[in-house]
Amino acid sequence: MTTIDTHDQADRQSVARRLLESSETLSYDPAREVDWETPLDTDYHGTSPEWSTLYGTAYWDEMTEEQRRELTRQEAASVASTGIWFEMILQQMILRDFYAKDPTDPAFQWALTEIADECRHSIMFARGAAKLGAPAYRPKRHVVELGRAFKAVAFGEAAYAAILVAEEVLDVMQRDWMRDERVVPFVRTINNIHVVEESRHMKFAREETRDRLRGASRPRRQFTALVVSIAAYHIVTSMWSDEVYANAGLDTKRAVREAKANEHHKSMLRSSCAGLMEFLDSCGLLTRPATYFYQRANLI
Ligand SMILES: [Fe+2]
Ligand SMILES: [Fe+2]
Repeated sequence: MTTIDTHDQADRQSVARRLLESSETLSYDPAREVDWETPLDTDYHGTSPEWSTLYGTAYWDEMTEEQRRELTRQEAASVASTGIWFEMILQQMILRDFYAKDPTDPAFQWALTEIADECRHSIMFARGAAKLGAPAYRPKRHVVELGRAFKAVAFGEAAYAAILVAEEVLDVMQRDWMRDERVVPFVRTINNIHVVEESRHMKFAREETRDRLRGASRPRRQFTALVVSIAAYHIVTSMWSDEVYANAGLDTKRAVREAKANEHHKSMLRSSCAGLMEFLDSCGLLTRPATYFYQRANLI
């Protein structure tokens, strides 16, 4: 082992140790922290209305306040359900990554802590979506199958960069929703718990992405960049299911058409992903082909 390798290893361990300490000090048990008892108050939104896929469209202007609130509640459930789908993918990727590695390594213990966090999050999202009166929202069939393949084979920086993308996109929205008094209180608590615990995950994902890319060849970096951008495209385009509109009593065809053309929503996504894109760029992961997919997903 060279001096630099030893140094990196020590760095990596100290990051993992700090993350473990932080999670010991500040972690939540959603089963006890979230108000599951109080019946749903339909005077509240599920997300900040500005984050609705229809906010700013002609359709939105025609909707009653009640319809708008129902729509954002269905959209909140859809985003949470996509969160569950992705958390299952990332739990498997991390578990595979640490298979048979050194259990005395703080990074190993941190990885298991992160999996435990995600497991609690998914149960929390599932209960939250049910309380919002939403059905099971799942990505489209071909996306579910792509995810099945990705979680079985993705490794190294591709796995951690994809994890980071999903976590970052969710993070910015949830920061808005947890502070918004128009959002139903139990959903604000869910968002708050998620934001706090995910900030540690994002730190780890950033470190791992950078670490594993160190010294990577150009073709490898190019390949990783492309894979991550395609994963990002499917994650982000799966967040808002087309089915939310019918469940909010709207005309699906018109809603999907106006949502697809909604420049307001696209600019919300773009501005929330500025920091993420900067990071990917600093890692050399914003190649031309990758940028094409980020543009299609309205992240850049
Ligand atoms: Fe999570
Ligand atoms: Fe996470």
